[in-house]
Amino acid sequence: MASTLAGKWVLITGASSGFGAAAARSFGAEGAKLLIGARRVDRLETVAQEATKAGAQAVFYRRLDVSQTADVNEFVDWARAKTGRLDVLINNAGGALGLDYVADGKDEDWETMLQTNVLGVLRMTRAALPLMVNNPGSSILNIGSFAARTHYEGGAAYCAAKAGELQITRVLRLELNGTGVRVSSIDPGLAETEFSLVRFKGDAARANKIYEGTQPLTAEDIAEILVWVASRPPHVNIDEMLIKPTDQAAIHKVYRRKAGG
Ligand SMILES: NC(=O)c1ccc[n+]([C@@H]2O[C@H](COP(=O)([O-])OP(=O)(O)OC[C@H]3O[C@@H](n4cnc5c(N)ncnc54)[C@H](OP(=O)(O)O)[C@@H]3O)[C@@H](O)[C@H]2O)c1
Repeated sequence: MASTLAGKWVLITGASSGFGAAAARSFGAEGAKLLIGARRVDRLETVAQEATKAGAQAVFYRRLDVSQTADVNEFVDWARAKTGRLDVLINNAGGALGLDYVADGKDEDWETMLQTNVLGVLRMTRAALPLMVNNPGSSILNIGSFAARTHYEGGAAYCAAKAGELQITRVLRLELNGTGVRVSSIDPGLAETEFSLVRFKGDAARANKIYEGTQPLTAEDIAEILVWVASRPPHVNIDEMLIKPTDQAAIHKVYRRKAGG
C-alpha cells in the first residue's frame, strides 16, 4: 500500500546532520517531496542524494539560517515557488552551546540558543503558515527536548529555550484550532548526533564522554517517530511526545556499562 506521505511536501530545518538529516532520509523513503535547509550546503547536498536514493519524489535544498528573519523569509519564498502547499513542517534546527553555570555564562552562547531554538521556530512557523492554514491535516512538528521538562546544572539557557519551544507549540495549537493544522512537540532525551560536539565546541573527547558506556537514542529512532506522527489520520493530533533511551531513567540517572562488561 502506498504511504500516506507519498507526494507530500515536507520542509525540514537543520537537515544537514542528526535528526534533520535522518528525517530527510525517512520521509524520502515514504516517497515525500522535500525542502531542506541548514547553513552547511555541502552537507545538504549529500543528504539530498541520500534522500533521493531512499525514494524521495523530489528533494530541493538551500542554505538557511533560522537566526535571521530575512533568511527564513527568503527560504519560504523559495519553497513557495516550488509548491503552493506544505504538508509537514519540521522545526528541528537548534542545539545547545556550552555547559556553563549561569555565573559563568557567555552572552553569545545564550543568544545563539534563544535565537535558534526559540526565535527560529517562531520565524519559520510565521513564514510557513500561509502554506499550511488552508491545508487541513498538515503538521507542524517542533523538535523540543527532555531539557524542556527537567533541569540540570549548566543547562539554564538551553532548558529555558526548549521550555520556550514547548510553550510555543501549545500556544500554536490554540491559535490554529479550527484550521485542521496539527502541532506537536517531539522531545528526545539523550541522542547521539553532532549535538554534543556542537555543545562542546568541537571537543570530541568531551562529547564522546556523554555517550560512554550507555546506549543513547539514534537519529533514526527520532526520524521514525516523526514519520509516524505525521502519518496519523488528519483528525489525530499527537500533542507531545517524550522519548528517552531506556538507559536514561532521569537526567542525572543514566545507566553506564563498565568497559569490557
Ligand atoms: N541530540 C540530542 O541529544 C537532542 C536531544 C533533544 C533535542 N535535541 C534537539 O534536536 C534538534 C536537532 O539536533 P541534533 O541532535 O540532530 O544535532 P545536530 O546533529 O548538531 O544537528 C543540528 C542541526 O541544526 C542545524 N542548525 C543549527 N543552527 C542553525 C541555524 N542557525 N540555522 C539553520 N540550521 C541550524 C545544523 O545545521 P548547520 O550547522 O549546517 O546550520 C544541524 O543540521 C535540535 O533542536 C536539538 O536541540 C537534540
